[in-house]
Amino acid sequence: VSLDWLNDALRQRREANLLRRTSVVRHVGPALIEIGGRVLNNFAANDYLGLASHPEILGAVESASRMNESASDSSPRFGTGASPLVSGYTQAHAALETELARFEGTEAAILFSTGYAANVGTIAALVSPNDVIFSDALNHASLIDGCRLSRAVTIVYPHIDMDELEKLLRKNRSLGRRAFIVTDSLFSMDGDKAPLKKIVELASMFDTEVIVDEAHATGIYGGRGRGLVEELELEDRIAVRIGTLSKALGCLGGFVVGPSHLIEFLRNFARTYIYSTAMPIPGVEAALRALDLAHSMRAEALELRAAARAFRKSLVSLDYRTAGDDSPIIPIYFETPQEVLDRSSLLREAGHFVPAIRPPTVPRDQSLLRISLSILHTNTQRQSLLASLAQ
Ligand SMILES: Cc1ncc(COP(=O)(O)O)c(C=O)c1O
Repeated sequence: VSLDWLNDALRQRREANLLRRTSVVRHVGPALIEIGGRVLNNFAANDYLGLASHPEILGAVESASRMNESASDSSPRFGTGASPLVSGYTQAHAALETELARFEGTEAAILFSTGYAANVGTIAALVSPNDVIFSDALNHASLIDGCRLSRAVTIVYPHIDMDELEKLLRKNRSLGRRAFIVTDSLFSMDGDKAPLKKIVELASMFDTEVIVDEAHATGIYGGRGRGLVEELELEDRIAVRIGTLSKALGCLGGFVVGPSHLIEFLRNFARTYIYSTAMPIPGVEAALRALDLAHSMRAEALELRAAARAFRKSLVSLDYRTAGDDSPIIPIYFETPQEVLDRSSLLREAGHFVPAIRPPTVPRDQSLLRISLSILHTNTQRQSLLASLAQ
């Protein structure tokens, strides 16, 4: 049989307890999923504000699909049939970009089909092979892939270690004509935050641009829900902010916000934008509603952060090792992938779905249970998970 080396690779993964499989999930209620015939509390979704099932968002999708009712098109359609620069850019796409720029307080915004595409396309377009990138060791795969595709020298600094970043900048800044620091603002697996204030300070010391991915922070942090850059009042100091509509906003699609010339440059040079079909129109209408809703849910976001802080406190009192402070992504670290798999399946028996995160998503010795909190969880669901963890 051809391709038989693939079986070797799969066997190796299986033997190391690292094989992944999809499970078919049925959504049966708020933060409740059914897998394999069992109903479980869902602690595995990035739907922090519960917007994925919000009636107004579902309503926006429905009316976008009905004849003459869609805000954007009098002849409704799902797919756009072309990339944005050909014929895929409708009035709805233009409206969403305008709203994103308004939401984020920037001159302009550009929409990508996913957050992954936004990260890969933006970094690969902005950074040339003559430049140098300084990248946090725990950055999301899409940032890493963007760095690879740029063909710039990429120097990986130990996770949020600013002393080390400073040393590396001192030693290696001169390797590139231009230099970039690339980081998640809220880390997707560990739920901790990049020290953005210090990063901005180092960037100005070493004449370096900063690219921040706010994927998990949008909707959760900042007075207007723009993310950690807003929370830390660094909006004037960070030129390139990337986000996604797929986490707290409950939809799908990625975006970049910033000055007009950045956005025009990306429209002309970001290959994941140019050579990919524009977002389906109902998805765009849904995102327009989601931005409005997220903007009005500041109190809910604060409550979620308070609940996350209290949850961590309980974990520490149970002697678990965790990270971060008030983010809804709460890790529990274990030594080996097997330990994490065992804990995850024990929790599942107790009625909770908490995913086991293993290499290569995380470094070798840092397998973790990733608990994602949402405003959809009842206090009873959270307490019940803690009770199971106590056992
Ligand atoms: C930090 C981070 N950036 C980007 C992405 C990609 O976003 P999307 O799922 O919208 O493609 C994700 C998650 O998938 C993420 O966790």
